[in-house]
Amino acid sequence: MMGPKVRRTTIWRRELAIFLAIIVWGVGTSSAPAADPARGVEILERAGLYAGPVPVHFIVIAQIAQPKAKDSWLRKAWRSPSKRLWIFVVGGVIVLSVVVGGWYLVEANKKKRPKLQVTESQIGPYRLQNLLATGHTSQVWEVVELSSHLHYAMKLLLPENVYNPVHRQLLFHEAEVGRILAHPNIIKIRTVMKDPEHPFFIMEFFPSGSLKLRIMRKEKAFIQEKVHDIFKQTMTGLAYMHASGWVHRDIKPENILCNSAGEVRIIDFAISQRIPNTGRPPFRGGSPEALLNKHLFEKPVSPEVYNPDVTKEFGEFILRMLAKRREERPNNFHEALMQFRNIKVFKTPAVKKEESK
Ligand SMILES: Nc1ncnc2c1ncn2[C@@H]1O[C@H](COP(=O)(O)OP(=O)(O)OP(=O)(O)O)[C@@H](O)[C@H]1O
Ligand SMILES: [Mg+2]
Repeated sequence: MMGPKVRRTTIWRRELAIFLAIIVWGVGTSSAPAADPARGVEILERAGLYAGPVPVHFIVIAQIAQPKAKDSWLRKAWRSPSKRLWIFVVGGVIVLSVVVGGWYLVEANKKKRPKLQVTESQIGPYRLQNLLATGHTSQVWEVVELSSHLHYAMKLLLPENVYNPVHRQLLFHEAEVGRILAHPNIIKIRTVMKDPEHPFFIMEFFPSGSLKLRIMRKEKAFIQEKVHDIFKQTMTGLAYMHASGWVHRDIKPENILCNSAGEVRIIDFAISQRIPNTGRPPFRGGSPEALLNKHLFEKPVSPEVYNPDVTKEFGEFILRMLAKRREERPNNFHEALMQFRNIKVFKTPAVKKEESK
């Protein structure tokens, strides 16, 4: 059995809920809820707040009642100058504790992070074996993994660039791109270490010089013999990169490693970029079933939505071709071609190539 106090609270909550619902509805529709009690019922029922007839007095009371704000102890205390001072003091102590506590947690977390063990000849789990190159921002080392004795190459920021956010970002970007790509003619990047003092990444070690080195050494016989192979592999690697949505942007003989067997690895993705999206299919689905479903039932949007350079008439033509109902599509390709002949596809005029002389 509910006691009178509990019952009063329940009724009070219920009336408050109804009151709020009426206010929300009143604001939403900008009309007096009492003017249409039937709609009030519908809204309350939909909100799961009420399952019977709305007592009219609730609606009327809800509109005229001014809830009396109860003074909180804080507001009361605020009025007294001596207590106000205490509020400042206590509030200040709380804020200070939160700040100091937060800072302490951050520092404690930093200390917990395992520190890289670094000596003259070792960085973390790698022994520095040979310095292969020193560039403007980084060094490349041949390293040996202590646990496996396998040889890798390590690209390490020079000490003066370690705290430079741009150089750090370029190094990590290079590592991320290299980790995504997997092709026999592209250097494979394995791990990246975002250490504050010794940021580096580890990649496949390819014992060779760069193509630039071979050109500078005038290895004419080698180049004559391997030129086709070198080009083919470089292009295959780049074609793969493009197909994966990346453009290298720094292809030059220094960034093509080539061993004496004529095998090629493309390196240095520091300034590689994603190829901007140029198009998209009318429907996309997470699974073949979802895609099929969309082809069968979803209304396609005009390509104008994705490419504002597409004309309205071309958008309409595409939508006709994609129509679900057979009778709305062109009857055959001849008819489609006849329609297409007179359609302008892009709003901006095509740039004419210079006529060859
Ligand atoms: N995986 C590797 N295996 C063997 N040698 C490598 C490897 N990666 C790089 N090298 C050597 O290091 C040289 C420089 O590498 P990379 O092009 O990646 O550096 P970089 O970005 O040009 O340097 P920086 O930006 O500091 O000037 C290469 O020309 C090559 O000789
Ligand atoms: Mg380079």
